[in-house]
Amino acid sequence: MANIKEVAARAGVSTTTVSHVINETRFVAEETRERVFAAMRDLNYAPSLVARSLKVKETHSIGMLVTTSSNPFFAEVVRGVERYCFEQGYNLMLGNTEGEAQTALSYLKMMLRKRVDGLLIMCSEGQQEVFNQLDWLGTLPVVVMDWGLDSDRVDLIADNSHLGGYLATRHLIDLGHREIGCIMGPEGRAPSTQRLAGFRQAMAEAALPVRPEWLQGGEFDCASGFAAMTRLLAMPTRPSALFIFNDMMAMGAISAAHQAGLRVPEDISLIGYDNVELAQYLSPPLTTINQPKEALGRLAVTRLLARIHGEQIANRLITQEPDLVIRQSCRRY
Ligand code: RIB
Repeated sequence: MANIKEVAARAGVSTTTVSHVINETRFVAEETRERVFAAMRDLNYAPSLVARSLKVKETHSIGMLVTTSSNPFFAEVVRGVERYCFEQGYNLMLGNTEGEAQTALSYLKMMLRKRVDGLLIMCSEGQQEVFNQLDWLGTLPVVVMDWGLDSDRVDLIADNSHLGGYLATRHLIDLGHREIGCIMGPEGRAPSTQRLAGFRQAMAEAALPVRPEWLQGGEFDCASGFAAMTRLLAMPTRPSALFIFNDMMAMGAISAAHQAGLRVPEDISLIGYDNVELAQYLSPPLTTINQPKEALGRLAVTRLLARIHGEQIANRLITQEPDLVIRQSCRRY
């Protein structure tokens, strides 16, 4: 096992500088920091627990990486996080990654320099890079929210999206719809693949065919919902109902239907996912699947603080259950 002297020699700095980089006890130029981190990786050096124990006491601050605050789902979860952090006497350092892994990594380094006591991750991009960075920096409590890589070093609080997709589709089937399509989320993202699996299960149980051309892709934003609905309405035959994998895309889809001269739900029924606050004020108010967003934020902070305070908690996976919220965007067929 390499020691701090060998790391210093490899990086061309003093052992004091290496210690400052590890413990974030003094500003060190980014270029020097990178040289030290590279030397640590090359020599497979893990800061000794003693070195880590020299880390200054808690800063009572928490870092949070989030995909974007422009999607109300994330904004409402962040609001729950902020509220609970404030109640517990912690401040929150928020980083919007906007879907970029390098941005996630840059924010992580900034948060480590600020010596955050723990980290919340609610972004899909850059998780592996962030975990790699954390793995050899030693322990930092991390809670991943919404969905994430399977890792035994972090807690994961995830939505039961398979159940949510099943509930949404079951609702449309119970209203008598037989020709049902989807506007899905980003390909490969767990919430999207799980919602599709729930959709397929409900359709199979009702012995209803799934028409591939009615499974349109989206990006969890209004524009992609609008575009997907436009494609569906241009087809020779269209579904009588759609399960749309989040409320933002549902908003875009409603706009596209209205611009095409169609009424919701009279001409086509739509059900969304997330139950953001805006959903109840759409025209028509959106039937959707609720995710407990504020509770997710509070639970994540509670879990993280327990880890920060050294509580030993065995189970690392927590699943949150969605529920159906019926409003006016679906009608009986
Ligand atoms: O609206 C954003 C979507 O992405 C939510 O459904 C949430 O599950 C996140 O994965």
